[in-house]
Amino acid sequence: MKETTNHIYPIFDKMLGRADKEQLLGQHSVMIWFTGLSGSGKSTIAIALERELQKRGLLCRILDGDNIRSGINNNLGFSAEDRVENIRRIAEVGKLFVDTGIITIAAFISPNNEIREMAADIIGKEDFVEIYVSTPLEECEKRDVKGLYAKARRGEIKNFTGISAPFEAPAHPALSLDTSRLSLEESVNRLLELILPRVKKE
Ligand code: ADX
Repeated sequence: MKETTNHIYPIFDKMLGRADKEQLLGQHSVMIWFTGLSGSGKSTIAIALERELQKRGLLCRILDGDNIRSGINNNLGFSAEDRVENIRRIAEVGKLFVDTGIITIAAFISPNNEIREMAADIIGKEDFVEIYVSTPLEECEKRDVKGLYAKARRGEIKNFTGISAPFEAPAHPALSLDTSRLSLEESVNRLLELILPRVKKE
């Protein structure tokens, strides 16, 4: 009897999948993963990219410090272990968005290859597009938008990436963007060239 039921009703108890969501939205989803120093321009580029994609009818979701470190990850600091846990949770949340058909943009320092590989493994390598915002440390420190580099130099913040904690540049990013050389518009145009063919549905 049970067997018969399973044969008749399987379609009603199965959650709709990514393909169904992508169909509904008329787009393909992907994870666009920005890595780079604090103040390198990750969030600024992410926001400008999201606006350009939205203009083209494409649905995005940005994950960055503002919505993650103040919420789901507000119990985490900047030790090596906490950074791993930070990125692990972000990757799991990001995967949920990608599986919902949404173009997901993550903007976190994610300071080394191991951490970024973990994220790529959780999300799925084929869905993970790594973008290195390669603005040099000197430039990030000169900008010091949040005043954190000055504090780190004075020893008031420990384990600050680039000053007292390491940053390992990615070996083979899909794209590198140095915002000390490229305008915001140029950076976004390069991203659009890379991303639009992947996310557009014919
Ligand atoms: S990550 O290393 O775990 O990926 P994440 O991107 O979430 O870092 O957070 C980085 C932001 O937190 C920085 O842009 C900065 O504003 C703030 N911050 C506070 N303390 C530190 C620190 N010790 N190292 C780096 N960033 C810090």
